[in-house]
Amino acid sequence: MKATSDRILRSEQAAYLEALEPARDALLVEMETFARENRNQPISDPEVASFLAVTARAKAPRFVVEVGTNIGYGAIVLARAAGETARVVTIERDPELCRTARAFVERAGLAARIEVRELDALDALDALDPAETIDLAYVDCVKEDYPRYFERLVPRLRPGGVLVADNVLWRGLVAAADTDVPAAERARVDALRTFNRLIVTDPRLRSVVLPLGDGVAFATRV
Ligand SMILES: C[S@@+](CC[C@H](N)C(=O)[O-])C[C@H]1O[C@@H](n2cnc3c(N)ncnc32)[C@H](O)[C@@H]1O
Repeated sequence: MKATSDRILRSEQAAYLEALEPARDALLVEMETFARENRNQPISDPEVASFLAVTARAKAPRFVVEVGTNIGYGAIVLARAAGETARVVTIERDPELCRTARAFVERAGLAARIEVRELDALDALDALDPAETIDLAYVDCVKEDYPRYFERLVPRLRPGGVLVADNVLWRGLVAAADTDVPAAERARVDALRTFNRLIVTDPRLRSVVLPLGDGVAFATRV
């Protein structure tokens, strides 16, 4: 059972869905435990990871960009599911987390296909090779910067490419009345509302926001 309570599902529904799953992968379970025991590192929810894996398997992307690496959990899920020719660039600014992520990537046997870039996310996105189009982007980083990630990633998505973003309903607050949003969450909530509006109205995309985990946006470039 996950350590964090689900934001959208009721706990009995989450337990039911978890029990439906086949035996979990040992390395991912170890990473979930490591994250929990190391100051509750904010790795993706297991059901979001399953969603990423199905998406990557369906799209068979060649080039994947993940914004926000943490300990490398999402990057490993994406690289495994995307297939043997896929390359994943994942961005993390914290040096210690980069070291941890690289160690897990090494243990997963994926060091040749996952590059952990130790950089600020916006700088790293600005520095991506403009000639290289992105087949799958996973946004899971600074919530206040989601609209800026959107601006940088959407023009680089190839037609049919996919953009997935986690936490877009942010603990239920994004859909809450303004009076129920604590002042400390205001900037995050405003940015996520802007991002969700962009992702569902931008004519370059077809998108849906799913009540999965903490809210997942899924878009494809037309
Ligand atoms: C939610 S975690 C990523 C989880 C990961 N995607 C996964 O699937 O397990 C977000 C990460 O972004 C990193 N981060 C925060 N600010 C950043 C920035 N400005 N640039 C790059 N990384 C940043 C944090 O250190 C944190 O590890």
